[in-house]
Amino acid sequence: MNNLNETLLTAIEVELRRQIARLDDSHTALYHEMLTYHMGWTGEGAGPKATGKRIRPLLVLLASAATKGEWQNALPAAAAVELIHNFSLLHDDIQDNSETRRGRPTVWVKWGAAQAINAGDGLLIIANLAMADLEDRFSAEIAMGGSRSLQETCLNLTRGQHLDISYETRTDLEVGDYWSMISGKTAALISACTHLGALLGGADEGTQSAYRDFGHYLGLAFQVQDDILGIWGDEALTGKSAASDLLEGKKSLPVLYGLGKNGEFARKWRQGPLTPDEIPGMSKLLEVEGARLQAQQSADQMTDLSLKALRMADPQGEAGDQLFELANWLLKREA
Ligand code: IPE
Ligand code: IPE
Ligand code: MG
Ligand code: MG
Repeated sequence: MNNLNETLLTAIEVELRRQIARLDDSHTALYHEMLTYHMGWTGEGAGPKATGKRIRPLLVLLASAATKGEWQNALPAAAAVELIHNFSLLHDDIQDNSETRRGRPTVWVKWGAAQAINAGDGLLIIANLAMADLEDRFSAEIAMGGSRSLQETCLNLTRGQHLDISYETRTDLEVGDYWSMISGKTAALISACTHLGALLGGADEGTQSAYRDFGHYLGLAFQVQDDILGIWGDEALTGKSAASDLLEGKKSLPVLYGLGKNGEFARKWRQGPLTPDEIPGMSKLLEVEGARLQAQQSADQMTDLSLKALRMADPQGEAGDQLFELANWLLKREA
């Protein structure tokens, strides 16, 4: 990793710890521990793999630096987006019945769903408090504008999650339904990251809008890649199950492409929920019938659109170069 990214990631970790320390109280030490465990800092397996990639806060800081802002001023916003992401993961693992996250047992597996919901709520509130810290560094208009835009993003995220969950039992879906679902559950937050960075960096409205588009398409590409890894990924690298999407009946993009082909995969899928021993055969069928390749092509297309928007945004300096690198790397990622 290059020097700039390393510097930013270190600063992000310091800011995240500072924000989460709001819950560091001896009467509720276990509550604080749930959060520090989930963030990857404490408990068995703590360390770089357990923290996740931190791409969202990195995008905020890079976009801010690439629009000639002082990235240090954007740190509370960077922490806020990562806290929101982690709030959504805590709840998502309950919603998706996922037992493993970042190579470790999920919070609900360790402490029960009731405590995991509460811990997720805590992260969301801390994110809002972090956004309020921007008031010391920016005009009220910019700080309030950033907060409002992030609140709208959270609402979109929950709309996407609502669709994702309701799609599990739907049999009438088309690929178009997929894009609106992932626009909410994943692209909304990634788009907010690049937009917030540009807003805090002092970019004009046209440039902010190009950054917003960049994040939107990057988020779409990112989720398609997550779907591919959710079936064919190496669990040792992703830290997540490569069976649970199919077992839960998730309408991921490869599954929708596979159903559209009306072949052997679609026939077996329609017979009812899959059992664990059917997963290897079904993922093989999906691949043989061309759904994996088709999903990969969609991810490539979305990445191309995101790079086009990034060129429009015309990011400056080393941070600008890093944004192009990050977008290209995300498509090839295995974790
Ligand atoms: C996982 O996001 C959830 C999705 C929106 C696909 P990441 O792949 O960014 O998760 P971490 O934070 O690196 O673990
Ligand atoms: C990602 O959901 C979006 C949110 C958590 C809001 P997924 O369910 O697709 O992501 P993973 O695969 O569990 O990380
Ligand atoms: Mg989910
Ligand atoms: Mg999930």
